[in-house]
Amino acid sequence: MQIAPHGGRLVNRILQGEALEKAKQKATGLPRIKVDSYTGFDIDNIGKGIFSPLTGFMNREETRQVIDTMHLREGLPWTIPILLAASQEDADSLDLGAEVALEDEQGDVAAILHLSEKFSLDRTELVEKVYGTADEAHPGVAYTLSQGPVYLAGELDVLKARAIEFQDHNLTPEETRAAFAERGWKRVVAFQTRNPIHRAHEYLTKCALEMCDGLLIHPLMGTTKSDDIPGDVRMKCYQVLLDNYYPPEHVMLSLMPVNMRYAGPKEAIMHAIVRKNYGCTHFIVGRDHAGVGDYYGTYDAHYIFDEFDPQEIGIEPLFFDHAFYSKKTKMMASKKTCPGTAEDHVFLSGTKVREMLRNGELPPEEFTRPEVAKVLMEWAQKANK
Ligand code: ADX
Repeated sequence: MQIAPHGGRLVNRILQGEALEKAKQKATGLPRIKVDSYTGFDIDNIGKGIFSPLTGFMNREETRQVIDTMHLREGLPWTIPILLAASQEDADSLDLGAEVALEDEQGDVAAILHLSEKFSLDRTELVEKVYGTADEAHPGVAYTLSQGPVYLAGELDVLKARAIEFQDHNLTPEETRAAFAERGWKRVVAFQTRNPIHRAHEYLTKCALEMCDGLLIHPLMGTTKSDDIPGDVRMKCYQVLLDNYYPPEHVMLSLMPVNMRYAGPKEAIMHAIVRKNYGCTHFIVGRDHAGVGDYYGTYDAHYIFDEFDPQEIGIEPLFFDHAFYSKKTKMMASKKTCPGTAEDHVFLSGTKVREMLRNGELPPEEFTRPEVAKVLMEWAQKANK
């Protein structure tokens, strides 16, 4: 028996066959609004059940419930509202009860929205509750404040399963569940990342794998901020790492087409729930999970799990302290597992690594595997030119 999806049932809103053909025809006569790629990913996530139990964009009451109580109206944990923002003009042109074609950035109708509510929210309150700040230097805040001012709620019928680069690695929750069953994996730990996998990440994944049957390396490939390392470069890093340092019989690489929100602790809960939908039983939460700048405390993403009953979250979080290479013990470790002072620890920040690469300097082997360093160096040198 596999772990149940959030809410008990994996949602599938993607139309197929005759229903799809009919919807495509119907869409030509419907009012249309354009959505950006961020919303395109949210539509895809609802369609494929990545966001189960959601079947559409949230209305005002649901949104309030999520930002005030971290739960959906039906009582399930949910920490970040999933909203469809529209301009005043677009919103005014639509009647309640209408069907609306949502056109993605490629000009295709991604979905039909059954418009049930138009509403506005105090966006400052919204960002303060979700991100813990209203500072526009925060990428999640900046994006949220740039959208709207009206929100459109309603169920979706999805016409287009969104394709991404490396589509053959973009397994849906239904497909990862089938893959785990085929491999006979019962305890499966998921690893979220938006970065290349360095030695500290590798250490976390391997400690976790010691306790599980399988490891799902599950990099986030939705929208990320412009100074994060691009998806195609990361993908090369993952591939050389897996080819050299992980046993294929216990490890799977699949991509997660979900937007990065940089909401720290609240996003850690969302990341865990989403991985439960993909069929994982355990989820790694390390240092400053989904953080950006210094908006969140190093372990806030651990503490937030205490605010929920473990049963309602369902998937089991595996918490890790800040990991580094210890010169004294000659191994990866944390303060929990090795003695010594900061001078003994090899740890580099993302900013420091980018600076080294820009200067043509390879990060040390204690920080990142040489094969990964080489991929990053090639990318940095090209970007330099
Ligand atoms: S994140 O935005 O996806 O969280 P990142 O890709 O850096 O960023 O981290 C992936 C996971 O590894 C997160 O759970 C994060 O907390 C954890 N992590 C990253 N670096 C370390 C580290 N040095 N020690 C412990 N955990 C870490």
